[in-house]
Amino acid sequence: MSEVKTIGVLGCGLMGAGIAQVAASSGFKTIVREINQDLVDKGLGNIKKQLERNAAKGKITPEDKDKTIANLSGATSLDELKSCDFIIEAIVEDVSVKSEVYGYLDKICPSHTIFASNTSSLTITEMAAATQRADRFCGMHFFNPVPVMKLVEIVKGVRTSDETFAKAFALGKALGKTPIATKDNSGFVVNFLLVPYLLGAIRAVQNNIASIDDIDKGMVLGCGYPMGPLTLLDFVGIDTTYRIAEIMFKEYGEPMYSCPPLLRKMFLAGFYGKKSGKGFYDYSSGTPVVNKEIENYVK
Ligand code: CAA
Ligand code: NAD
Repeated sequence: MSEVKTIGVLGCGLMGAGIAQVAASSGFKTIVREINQDLVDKGLGNIKKQLERNAAKGKITPEDKDKTIANLSGATSLDELKSCDFIIEAIVEDVSVKSEVYGYLDKICPSHTIFASNTSSLTITEMAAATQRADRFCGMHFFNPVPVMKLVEIVKGVRTSDETFAKAFALGKALGKTPIATKDNSGFVVNFLLVPYLLGAIRAVQNNIASIDDIDKGMVLGCGYPMGPLTLLDFVGIDTTYRIAEIMFKEYGEPMYSCPPLLRKMFLAGFYGKKSGKGFYDYSSGTPVVNKEIENYVK
């Protein structure tokens, strides 16, 4: 990856922070942009804590930690990303917000800069249309938590060039991930399969098929999944899952992608999952316990 020296990351939330951490620890100068300084500080602070934990566990050396931190910088202005060779976007799952950012960056970035979206459900072709560089636009879909999960889906939009696809595939490897190639299909491969399962788990709660705890236990103990679907939903974000369901249902029109009313209610109630302190579980005491408000609501 000799041509890629500087990577820009848009958003320093759950995914952006993970992507920035992996980029910086893989030796790339990394500039991560958030919408205000507090969010930049919060995001960079989370990355540093994670690196310190890894160093304390002996997973990385103190020198590796320092090198990674030295490779990282924060920004609040999009203009600070104009020196980047590759920009990976991980902002809110909303096509109008993403398109506005891409339209602006397209005007200020040099022609060689490649744009890659970490979208869960939007199509690459739709976002690329907001730019004059659809041939240098692709998908790079990482998985949460990014430093741990080995996969990245590399997505070719209708107009993505073979050269851009090859560069993104090589970058995925340089970031220590195993890339797989996917078509520009809403949800790509993994969410095409995973999202109906997660929405099914919400329907199971909604229909009171079993308790929240038992639905999770069922899939962990019965199928060997590392976490139950409701814990996973809290981890991914109820807000993000709500947006994903709306987008995928609009794309496919199939009932399995439709947003369960309970998901919409949780979104409206501000139960975004771990990030807001409450989702299917309540995280306020440190040890997750079932969120009584949801349990009472579905009774
Ligand atoms: N960030 C970084 N590292 C983390 C982490 C986080 N948020 N959470 C856990 N880890 C690390 C831990 O430090 C630990 O590392 P070591 O073993 O090297 O010390 C390792 O992961 C295992 O952690 P734990 O022992 O604490 O817990 P665990 O064994 O239960 O594993 C997990 C945690 C890796 C998250 C595991 O539960 C898991 O794989 N869950 C499923 C995750 C998943 O399905 N992700 C995909 C979500 S869908 C998606 O991302 C796509 C989309 O578009 C929505
Ligand atoms: P998040 O809510 O944790 O973070 C999004 C961040 O984007 C926020 O910190 C917000 O301040 C920031 N943001 C909003 N508008 C912005 C802008 N114009 N410029 C820069 N930053 C802006 O969300 P997330 O879970 O990190 O999801 C981000 C993207 O990654 C979404 O497209 C989502 O679908 C995708 N994704 C999420 C997961 C997951 O498990 N949560 C997994 C894979 C992909």
